[in-house]
Amino acid sequence: MNAIARKADTIVKKDIYERPLLVPHQLGMMNKMGSAQARAPLTEIDGVAVEELVACYGSPLFVFSERALVRRYRELRDALTRRYPKVRIAWSYKTNYLDGICRVFHREGAWAEVVSEFEYDKALHLGVAPERIHFNGPLKGESALEKALPAGSIVHIDHFDELRLAERVAERRGCRPKVALRINLQAGALPAWSRFGFNLESGQARDAVMRIVTGGKLELTGLHCHIGTFVLDPAGYRVAAQKLAQLANEIRARFGVELSFIDVGGGFASQNTLKAMYMPGEQASPSFAQYAEAIAAGLSELDAPPRRQPTLVVETGRALVDEAGHLITTVQAEKRLADGRRAIVADAGVNVLFTAFWYKHDVLPAQPSSGTPEATVIYGPLCMNIDVMRDSVLLPPLDVGDRLVFRHVGAYNVTQWMQFITYRPAVVIIGRDGRHGLLRRREDLQTILAQEEVPAWLR
Ligand SMILES: Cc1ncc(COP(=O)(O)O)c(C=O)c1O
Repeated sequence: MNAIARKADTIVKKDIYERPLLVPHQLGMMNKMGSAQARAPLTEIDGVAVEELVACYGSPLFVFSERALVRRYRELRDALTRRYPKVRIAWSYKTNYLDGICRVFHREGAWAEVVSEFEYDKALHLGVAPERIHFNGPLKGESALEKALPAGSIVHIDHFDELRLAERVAERRGCRPKVALRINLQAGALPAWSRFGFNLESGQARDAVMRIVTGGKLELTGLHCHIGTFVLDPAGYRVAAQKLAQLANEIRARFGVELSFIDVGGGFASQNTLKAMYMPGEQASPSFAQYAEAIAAGLSELDAPPRRQPTLVVETGRALVDEAGHLITTVQAEKRLADGRRAIVADAGVNVLFTAFWYKHDVLPAQPSSGTPEATVIYGPLCMNIDVMRDSVLLPPLDVGDRLVFRHVGAYNVTQWMQFITYRPAVVIIGRDGRHGLLRRREDLQTILAQEEVPAWLR
């Protein structure tokens, strides 16, 4: 045996070196607020076993609770009507415009708040009367205005070009439609959403009022302002409502125009936890009562006699629907990353759970388990580095085939989701009596192919 062969022989006979791995296990309370991490599994949703739902509709699966939708709606309505005499809730379609979800809110008495021609058409298709539709958005388009203005929907004018367009449509159609003005303003310390509507502080909003009132082609019927989304400080609403009330007073005094509504938009925080938040959203987000209190305090500036006061409109989205939504997903694999972290491959990715980019979504196993919880990264099937559903969450040992349930996923996901390398999952609802049924079928190859064409020369 030559020297080289002898050396190779000794190397092969050596024990293989294994890098030691220290895994930090976190037990008990890690902070003085005592966020309890040993959590009970979520084996059922509204009394229906997670396993039954998956057996019926597959995994992943979005599941909505009608009970939670109705409960949140009534909580909001009661919080507002206890503090202000005339209240209207206009359901923000963009948050979740599945027919079944909209129907739950319309049955409870909600009007519709839409921001595009597609959403406008969807509201009409659901049987919402045109005059019960608030129409927002920076781009409605001429064909949408041609439908909405003569039909009596309340168009919230966003900019001067739209104002001119609305006047032209009104003239052409021989009507004097009701419109509102979207206003943007500085609501205390909150960063201003200044791209939408007419600015108050610069005088632009007053110019728009003057233009509508003196132009005579449109009827100014309301003021609207949406100060942001997931607004954690109710004081912003007090300031916004107060500024709108003062403007309404001014319009009444100067032009004798009594507005029929003041719309403070949406933006209430749901019970989710933003990535930047320390406390869980369930503890940190203000209640509907706190928001309502702030708005009513701002509206107390109105100087109209009580019976002639404008209706308060809110366009709440996420805070009505987030808690009602769950996403069931199934563990496909468990692996150890190079840095020692445990990783779980789930069958749902951020393309269907868009909100995972800014929330620490609460996620619970759907089956009892024993063993020490461990910090875990959950990622999906997208084969892209951004596909992280939770970058670190304490979870007990899990097996392939186990289910995880993401909570509070009802807002924006089933409208902003993307079809990307997988089929989008089914969406179901559990009724108040425990029945369950489909809101949207799982996609299949036909769903995708139905939209595709192949030009003749490529066939
Ligand atoms: C004009 C308008 N109203 C209402 C909403 C609903 O807001 P949220 O879901 O924060 O309540 C939005 C959302 O961006 C909006 O743009």
